[in-house]
Amino acid sequence: MKSVKKWGVSLALVALMVVVSACGGNNKGSNSSSSPAESSKAPAAAAESASPSESAPAATDKKVVLGFAQVGAESGWRTANTNSIKESAGEAGFDLKFSDAQQKQENQIKAIRSYIQQKVDVIAFSPVVESGWDTVLKEAKDAGIPVILTDRSVDSKDTSYYKTFIGSDFVEEGRKAGQWVLDQYKDTQEVVNIVELQGTTGSAPANDRKAGFQEMIKSNDKLKVIASQTGDFTRAKGKEVMQAFLKAHKDIDVLYAHNDDMALGAIQAIEAAGLVPGKDIIIISVDAVKDGMTAASEGKINFIVECNPLLGPQLMQAVNDVLANKEIPQRIVTEESTFTSEQAKEALPTRKY
Ligand code: AHR
Repeated sequence: MKSVKKWGVSLALVALMVVVSACGGNNKGSNSSSSPAESSKAPAAAAESASPSESAPAATDKKVVLGFAQVGAESGWRTANTNSIKESAGEAGFDLKFSDAQQKQENQIKAIRSYIQQKVDVIAFSPVVESGWDTVLKEAKDAGIPVILTDRSVDSKDTSYYKTFIGSDFVEEGRKAGQWVLDQYKDTQEVVNIVELQGTTGSAPANDRKAGFQEMIKSNDKLKVIASQTGDFTRAKGKEVMQAFLKAHKDIDVLYAHNDDMALGAIQAIEAAGLVPGKDIIIISVDAVKDGMTAASEGKINFIVECNPLLGPQLMQAVNDVLANKEIPQRIVTEESTFTSEQAKEALPTRKY
């Protein structure tokens, strides 16, 4: 009986030890068995108690998720812009979700809504047109997702819908184009007939480049815009509309194209009509992409106003600043220059896009 009692005491002691060690283990095990929502809070709590080296992986493992809704692939400028954004996002170590709206606002709105649903960290986009963004921008704001505008802006009255707008001053680009025409024809006694190929209807660059150009040439009443139509920023449309201009007007002196691609399309139409681009018709365009600069160096485009598409590095910097709650300016303007044919020839060998 005595030995039975001894065994009973020993067994009870072993059982007690098992329970104690299991309780200690339970403390650690409670996090790993928690719900995903709870465990997502764990890194912050762990950071308080753990040493820095233990907590570091949890903090650095999570990549910043950036949703980018691009306009489309309508021009050489756009291709360079897309490449810049993809490359810079890769260099910054971001997880980039990229969509191409094919120049349709409804596609961009769908993409932005899907980024909101996916709870990305930041949404950036280049709005196809200026108007009609308030509803979706409010949805992003209500979801607590910061928005950054790049390249083109929106006409929303409430500027709290976006953190910053990074891109060119399109009115200034139009002014530079207008100033050049004004200078070229300052002593003219005859009327100068100008045709204009506008960008996508309702887009910021189309509205602003038109306005800036008008502002400059209006001081000389000999400078007349006799036709103005959209070529949607594409080469094909630029050619088509220029063909129609040439048919309707026998005495075109100047073409002002809102981008290089439309100017390049128009050059094909001008040559097909037996005229010499850059001589019979003076050509001014905007962008300064490689194909445009090549045409300028050959004397087919007389003057190009630069519009810089390499916005990727500035965008990634802004994303980091916004996520770090740093103050950033509401407007970040890109620096740009202009090129005559001679200057284009010099700059071409080192041109990045
Ligand atoms: O928004 C920038 C403009 O869009 C570029 O000038 C044009 O080429 C592009 O399609």
